[in-house]
Amino acid sequence: MAVISTSSSFVFCLLAAAVLLAATPSPATAAPWDEKETHIRVYWHDQVTGNATVVTVAEAATTNTSSTRFGAVQVIDDALTLEPNKTVIGRAEGIYVSSNKETTSVTMAMNFVFMDGPFNGSSIAIFGQNRIELKVREMSVIGGSGVFRLARGYVQLRSYWLSPSTGDAIIQYDIFVRHYDH
Ligand SMILES: *[C@@H]1O[C@H](CO)[C@@H](O)[C@H](O)[C@H]1NC(C)=O
Ligand SMILES: *[C@@H]1O[C@H](CO)[C@@H](O)[C@H](O)[C@H]1NC(C)=O
Ligand SMILES: *[C@@H]1O[C@H](CO)[C@@H](O)[C@H](O)[C@H]1NC(C)=O
Ligand SMILES: *[C@@H]1O[C@H](CO)[C@@H](O)[C@H](O)[C@H]1NC(C)=O
Repeated sequence: MAVISTSSSFVFCLLAAAVLLAATPSPATAAPWDEKETHIRVYWHDQVTGNATVVTVAEAATTNTSSTRFGAVQVIDDALTLEPNKTVIGRAEGIYVSSNKETTSVTMAMNFVFMDGPFNGSSIAIFGQNRIELKVREMSVIGGSGVFRLARGYVQLRSYWLSPSTGDAIIQYDIFVRHYDH
């Protein structure tokens, strides 16, 4: 009796598991399109001199006396290129704020807007802390538009070229992004 009872409850459990499995959608049917991962390398050109692409729009009364320019707010419309000194394929539009009193560190909020190439018309939203003195910095990809809808991921930045006298800079951005291309 006990054996039959055990085996029937075992069969019941098997049936219940089968029903549960059938009711749980597989990842393939849950998403109407597939998530893919894309790696893009672009160069970001912060031009302080000449036809400047970065302007200071606000600062604190104490910013000039701060070694880290704490409190300064910059607006950017920086060129993005696929190779350091080549054709512009998009622009980095947004702001960065000097937000650390001890080290040179900025909080950045930017949209990488592509205007040429395979991502023309799409954009990637980036937010994070950029501690400039570090060799490799990392920030978050927090969203996107076009082929980058529902984007998530991260960027790694490395200084490629800097002019200490003018402040002009070229930074290499490696973007690792997961998104639903459809
Ligand atoms: C300055 O740069 C913008 C785009 O970054 C460009 O449209 C404009 O023609 C440039 N102006 C001059 C004088 O080079
Ligand atoms: C900080 O220095 C800049 C450049 O010398 C000057 O234009 C600006 O007025 C100064 N800001 C303050 C708050 O004193
Ligand atoms: C790219 O531009 C930077 C800054 O203008 C310059 O120093 C460098 O030599 C250039 N590199 C190449 C490969 O043209
Ligand atoms: C990029 O897209 C815009 C708007 O769809 C279009 O007008 C433009 O010709 C495209 N540029 C390139 C280089 O494909």
